[in-house]
Amino acid sequence: MPEPPPPALAISGLSYAIGDRVLFDGLDLALAAGESVSILGSSGSGKSTLLSMILGLLQADSGTVSVDGEDLGGLGAGARARLRARAVGMVFQFGELLPELSPRDNVALAAMLAGADTTGVHDRAAGLLRRLGVPEAATVETLSGGERQRVAVARALVNEPRLLLADEPTGALDEENRDKVAELLFALPAERDCALLVVTHDRSVAYRADRVLAITGGSLRPAARGGTGR
Ligand SMILES: Nc1ncnc2c1ncn2[C@@H]1O[C@H](COP(=O)(O)OP(=O)(O)OP(=O)(O)O)[C@@H](O)[C@H]1O
Ligand SMILES: [Mg+2]
Repeated sequence: MPEPPPPALAISGLSYAIGDRVLFDGLDLALAAGESVSILGSSGSGKSTLLSMILGLLQADSGTVSVDGEDLGGLGAGARARLRARAVGMVFQFGELLPELSPRDNVALAAMLAGADTTGVHDRAAGLLRRLGVPEAATVETLSGGERQRVAVARALVNEPRLLLADEPTGALDEENRDKVAELLFALPAERDCALLVVTHDRSVAYRADRVLAITGGSLRPAARGGTGR
């Protein structure tokens, strides 16, 4: 029998305090390829902090974070950066695009920064953007909010990550664009066999996931339906 693939993400016993404020107290989370999880939590509950730890940019006081079977705690900064480039894609709240570049160059640049083979990288970027319905434009400055957010999704996907992270991916969008971007994001695990972790305040976005969790008392629990999520 072949070895089963490692989980895309495995977090075990994560604890972290800022001063005397305990943010995480033995937090656990496992995410397999093809699966989506949303995390709801009030402002300041630690959602973005958790993503920083998964990205290997911030270290917990104790506990382990493994991405694609590799324990981040056992890696130096360079190896963590390579693992991040190889296995993780991240969609930021406000897209974080370079406004003076074209959509295609924004996406291609992400592939080049990750050390991808540069041949065909522009074609790959253009193909992804076409599939996501982003019009061709000289610079992303001229795109609508929803179109920019789809460029940000394309950028996170260009390296075919095992684990896709999104921090309030629809926070800056109107209702129609929010639904479009959410539909697109939550279709990806089945389409690309990646794992998707979305942190959001928006329950209509969160409940598209296979599992909806909330940070309460320093750990993740199934979120109660109803309420505001804030
Ligand atoms: N470097 C830091 N020094 C001190 N406090 C910090 C630092 N970084 C984060 N915090 C605090 O940690 C808590 C968690 O922050 P975090 O950004 O993870 O919250 P969040 O759940 O993402 O909130 P939001 O929904 O508003 O984005 C907040 O109370 C924040 O003020
Ligand atoms: Mg946040």
